[in-house]
Amino acid sequence: MSEAFDLIVIGGGPGGYEAAAFAAENGMKTALVEKDALGGTCLNRGCIPTKTLLHSAELYAELQGERPRAGIRTEGLSFDLNALQDRKEAVVAQLRDGVAQTLKRGKVTLFHGSASVQGEGRVLVRGETEEELHARFLLLATGSVPVHLPLPGAEGENVFDSDGMLSLRKPLSSLTVIGGGVIGLEFASLYLALGAKVTVIEALDRLIANMEKELSVSIRQLLKKRGAEIVTGAVLQRIEDVNGAKRAVYLCGEEEHAADAEAVLIAVGRRPYMEELFAEGVQVQTERGRIVTDECHRTSLDGVYAIGDVTGGIQLAHAATAEGINAVCHMLRREPLRREDVIPACVYTEPEIASVGLTKEEAAAQGLRVLSKKYPMSANGKTVITDGERGFIKIISEEESGRILGAQMMCERATDMISQFATAITAGLTTDQMKQTVFPHPTFSEGISGALS
Ligand code: NAI
Repeated sequence: MSEAFDLIVIGGGPGGYEAAAFAAENGMKTALVEKDALGGTCLNRGCIPTKTLLHSAELYAELQGERPRAGIRTEGLSFDLNALQDRKEAVVAQLRDGVAQTLKRGKVTLFHGSASVQGEGRVLVRGETEEELHARFLLLATGSVPVHLPLPGAEGENVFDSDGMLSLRKPLSSLTVIGGGVIGLEFASLYLALGAKVTVIEALDRLIANMEKELSVSIRQLLKKRGAEIVTGAVLQRIEDVNGAKRAVYLCGEEEHAADAEAVLIAVGRRPYMEELFAEGVQVQTERGRIVTDECHRTSLDGVYAIGDVTGGIQLAHAATAEGINAVCHMLRREPLRREDVIPACVYTEPEIASVGLTKEEAAAQGLRVLSKKYPMSANGKTVITDGERGFIKIISEEESGRILGAQMMCERATDMISQFATAITAGLTTDQMKQTVFPHPTFSEGISGALS
């Protein structure tokens, strides 16, 4: 049997399903093929499950007394990892149902199976049956999978990637995290909050090295204050079993050191996923394992677009969504709807970290003369009320015009507040224009007003 569509989307993550819904809403007869669960990594093995577990863990840490809050007595407080996991699964199921409903309402035809591109406009779906589909356009949104290190012991028992960590139902007394990137730090934060001893081993000289330096320094201090051991400039060599523990042996300069723990998390990046995506003989341009696309998200095959993690670049759910919508706009011969150069980045540690636009160093490298203004959140009323951690909001603006170029923050609700700067940069606002806004009192967002004045 063969069925014809305007668009076939391969991959039901936030890049794929949002693009499919948008295409259908705009009159395209659309099919979506997913071989696993709807929602992709973000919903099933990424953003949503991690943030659900982090929410519980942080609530627990907050009430537990490490940072005693609000005069509440909490003797006998404990957590049940099984219950946390059950709640996480319920949250994921609820949101997954929401995605299915959206696609159904939009009349997107869903195929459950593994899709492979047979050529321009042709897809074979292998599910319970085999089906050949045809379309004017294809959109590849197959995402990414964790990078595995080809090192001795790296595939052993109690050595996990982020997928494995997310389904652990046994509490850990200690954890070694390999990789001080976003995933590593979110799990370090989670297990610290649940009372585990945590060691982070990072190859570069600072944590979250793709973000601004002050954010790296601040999060390092904070994790250390919570009891974490942080080792930078350290490259994992092997993992051994010693007296029932997992020993991570790493090289720091010329010297070998070791960290022992009950388990090891390896979070050293994600790689584009395109297993069996192209039938034999189908040639598409790739580069270092990613699909190469142009600025309109077209691959080297006519009518075939690709977006999100499978194309490399910024591996973020909201970046994939923006790219998917813009790719569909291109198919419809419309202007792109989303600004892909203004993508906020967030880390859900406690307190949260968020950044958008340029850092001071990046602006300087572009030859821009900039002003950098920083506001300490210790002076913010809501932060004091909620006994929040010390943090800051920093705004980067062009010296002459006052145009807002970027913002970095580490404070409570940073991941929500960063959108104000994403809006400001997208709209080309200046600091004077943003200053006209009246911020409600008492709120965390007043910190923005503080940084502007
Ligand atoms: P990452 O690239 O952010 O960090 C991996 C870190 O591991 C790097 O700092 C690297 O230097 C280090 N590393 C690599 N090999 C090593 C070795 N042998 N020994 C010690 N350290 C080593 O990758 P991560 O954290 O796995 O995240 C993958 C992607 O998922 C990222 O692009 C991230 O932005 C995205 N993500 C975003 C989230 C968010 O927005 N909150 C949450 C989770 C993931």
